[in-house]
Amino acid sequence: MSEAAQQKVEVNNAPVTATQRMANLVSLAKRRGFVFPASEIYGGLNGFWDFGPLGIALKNNIRDTWWRDMVECPPIGPDGSPLSIVGLDSAIIQNPKTWVASGHVAGFADLMSDCRETKGRYRADHIVCTEIQFKKGDNVKSLGWLSTLDGDEAEANLAKKAKKMIQKSGGGEIVPFDITKAIPFTSLSESQRALVIGPDAENPGTLTEPRKFNLMFETYTGVFQNEDSRAYLRPETAQGIFLNYKNVLDSSRVKVPFGIAQIGKAFRNEVTPRNFIFRTREFEQMEMEFFCPPDDAKMWYEFWVTTRLKWWEERIGLSKAKLQRREHDSDELAHYSTACADVEFQYPFSEPKFGELEGIAHRGNFDLTQHSQHSKTNLEYFDQENNKKYLPHVIEPASGLTRGVLAVLCDAYEYDASRASPEWLRIKPSLAPIKAGVFPLVNKDGMPEMAEKIYLELRQSFTCQYDAKQSIGRRYARMDEAGTPFCLTVDGDSLKDSTVTVRHRDTASQERVNAGQLKAYLNEKLA
Ligand code: GAP
Repeated sequence: MSEAAQQKVEVNNAPVTATQRMANLVSLAKRRGFVFPASEIYGGLNGFWDFGPLGIALKNNIRDTWWRDMVECPPIGPDGSPLSIVGLDSAIIQNPKTWVASGHVAGFADLMSDCRETKGRYRADHIVCTEIQFKKGDNVKSLGWLSTLDGDEAEANLAKKAKKMIQKSGGGEIVPFDITKAIPFTSLSESQRALVIGPDAENPGTLTEPRKFNLMFETYTGVFQNEDSRAYLRPETAQGIFLNYKNVLDSSRVKVPFGIAQIGKAFRNEVTPRNFIFRTREFEQMEMEFFCPPDDAKMWYEFWVTTRLKWWEERIGLSKAKLQRREHDSDELAHYSTACADVEFQYPFSEPKFGELEGIAHRGNFDLTQHSQHSKTNLEYFDQENNKKYLPHVIEPASGLTRGVLAVLCDAYEYDASRASPEWLRIKPSLAPIKAGVFPLVNKDGMPEMAEKIYLELRQSFTCQYDAKQSIGRRYARMDEAGTPFCLTVDGDSLKDSTVTVRHRDTASQERVNAGQLKAYLNEKLA
């Protein structure tokens, strides 16, 4: 997002565009303690973010829902019986041979291009270009290829730059061009690339030829830092699962088909981290490898794509209209993969397009084959019933937990200038960081005592917050911004009839509920 877009749009000036909505959300996320730039007091570190008190609560709630729905209470399979999926927490740093076998050392790379003029560094496949030509008589001359980064405002950026370039060239006859048909930098010929004006540059031909850049973070184990001690921070949680497939088979009573699930940190030295917490260099994944007989893999692939799309909608509460399934084209597939589909979400910065939230890949037996060969360990499964040995095939639903937090925040952000609290987060109540705010209307006449008693009781079952500071309107506004679905206010009547006001976040409507019934009331609403 551009710097101008980062500035918060005034609250009495409704955020009309997606860019404004995103800017307001980033601002709210910081102001209310969801997400902070990492090491901010030292100027931050590009691609790293910290989750504040509300952010960690929201992240944990999404994480726990995934774990519950994958491991503790997995889906019912196509034959009507519950699936068998077990959990795992493997080390972030594994033997480096892991990443040779998985193909990451040789191939986990992005194409990168540097700008000699601005010293900027870009993912080459993220640069889009359009050619500007100048006509003099019958002579047509190229003024160069303008470029910008794909995504938010690419067309507007190119149009603005084209206008400037035409002015700079002293006017004249510019050959009409179609900015909507911008071409990826990587699809141009080498001679065309040599004419490109970098996304932030003034002169043509300053972008270097795209070259491969491995995304794995390197480190060293032990006291000597050399080739032999080189290790990697894992770029995905998946490989730890394949390394433990045999351990799990030998130690648990699982039989194919079964799954192993893992949640944890992953690290990628992304060339251009961007769009808030969408693409970061440290993030969390929720991955599950489902091992199945080769002949059933197609059926399980379809099962998991459908199940995962439904999960984001029904369990996480993302709007159906902002979710879609996108099948990968054959040229997008990894060489080992026979099919892959993404669950995509319409983020404000991708509008009207969609961006990846989760990928479901049919990995065949690639990983088990590779690890069998490289470790010289037989990873075949013995199917006792049919008396045969085979390497199971794998279907992998792989999602980003931190990206999930982003999708929830984007989908939840609401603005209504006519409300006393114009900004609020319509987070699904069961995922909300705080389930109920408890307030005394005023700090006298026994109200704080009653409110505190209610708070102390309710917090045993729900995440609650007691707040007695400032006006009741201000307190409602604070809770709305935190996405708290219910506010419980003790007033003068509460002391007489033991009822409290329950205020609803999304409608600002109020009702009276008996104080003794509050736990049952919240349980029902949060179910
Ligand atoms: N094991 C397969 C795998 O890692 P992936 O598509 O590279 O597949 C899975 O990653 C998910 O992890 C993505 O759908 C996305 O949600 C999340 N993810 C990947 N790279 C990310 C990054 N740099 N920042 C945040 N989330 C990321």
